Amino acid sequence: MMLKTPNEIDIVRAKSSKITEVDFENLSFGNIFTDHMLVCDFKNGKWEKPIIKPYEPFLIDPSAKVFHYGQAIFEGMKAYKDNQDDVWLFRPDENFHRFNKSASRMAMPEVPEDIFIGGLKTIVDLERDWVKKGLGNTLYLRPFMIAIGSGVIAQPSTQYRFMIILSPARSYYQGEVKVIIAEHYSRAANGGIGAAKAAGNYSAQFYPQKLAQEKGFQQIIWTDDATHTKLEEAGTMNVFFRINDTIITAPVSERILDGVTRKSLIALAKREGINIEERDVLVNEIVKAAKDGSLKEIFGAGTAAVVSPIVGFQYQEHYYELPKLENSLAMHLKEEITKIQYKLADDTFGWTVKI
Ligand code: COI
Repeated sequence: MMLKTPNEIDIVRAKSSKITEVDFENLSFGNIFTDHMLVCDFKNGKWEKPIIKPYEPFLIDPSAKVFHYGQAIFEGMKAYKDNQDDVWLFRPDENFHRFNKSASRMAMPEVPEDIFIGGLKTIVDLERDWVKKGLGNTLYLRPFMIAIGSGVIAQPSTQYRFMIILSPARSYYQGEVKVIIAEHYSRAANGGIGAAKAAGNYSAQFYPQKLAQEKGFQQIIWTDDATHTKLEEAGTMNVFFRINDTIITAPVSERILDGVTRKSLIALAKREGINIEERDVLVNEIVKAAKDGSLKEIFGAGTAAVVSPIVGFQYQEHYYELPKLENSLAMHLKEEITKIQYKLADDTFGWTVKI
């Protein structure tokens, strides 16, 4: 994919950079932002000229629809630096298309390619010193859109703000990830917004996630809302299960996010000759496999989480621990995707895009 440059984009540079104050070795996820942000408003039925300016708070009306009705969507992406100091994005076209699918589902205007992709290119280029070399170092990119039109009538806004903010990041999870299988709460329902990357999909998880965390679990594996018998997605990640030498993951649906890392791992597994199935994953079969020892691995996959092994899960008050493996397929796939992202292996898929 060629990155489109926006026709016009104003840049107001920060007077000084905060970069020297940042401890890049000890980053907790998503707390530090670079010197600039991109802002582009939608008004009177059209997108205005984007501007990149110093990162700072901004004012919006207290009645803005984002506050009252949660009309907000986002994407998660990363930039990587290779050993030659070149900076790369990973499958930005996927995020661009998914962002606009989320926009339509939330009755928001689509963002044109020159603003989304061209804006990313311009701001990442401007902030390239924030992308550090070395495996594990990334610049997390957060494009998002909020409804800024005022008035508490429950209707879609007529004014929107698209923004891109950037945060240097290493790992999302610190330490082991244990999960609990949802038996009561649900993340999404058929006909709902589960497949959109809508802010409300995440805040709806906060309460059940808090209950899970109080019991010592980092995440919940969501089950289908109708029967709670099928395993679907884990909070911030898609989820994969390895039974003997076969990996299975739920097919994307209107309840499940079409993850970019998810689809990349599936393609990589197929290339490596690993058996991988996209099909319903039944809670019963995973519990049975955990009991008879054929369940070898569970792992989450997402932009922020990359590939995160899960050490055990709880279901119906029983905790099942997973074996510690020498030949982890999760770790193998993580290595393969990482090598492509950092340009340490040939990108035969054409996934990486140079800034
Ligand atoms: C990502 O993986 O980029 C996400 O958007 C998940 C987010 C909750 C950190």
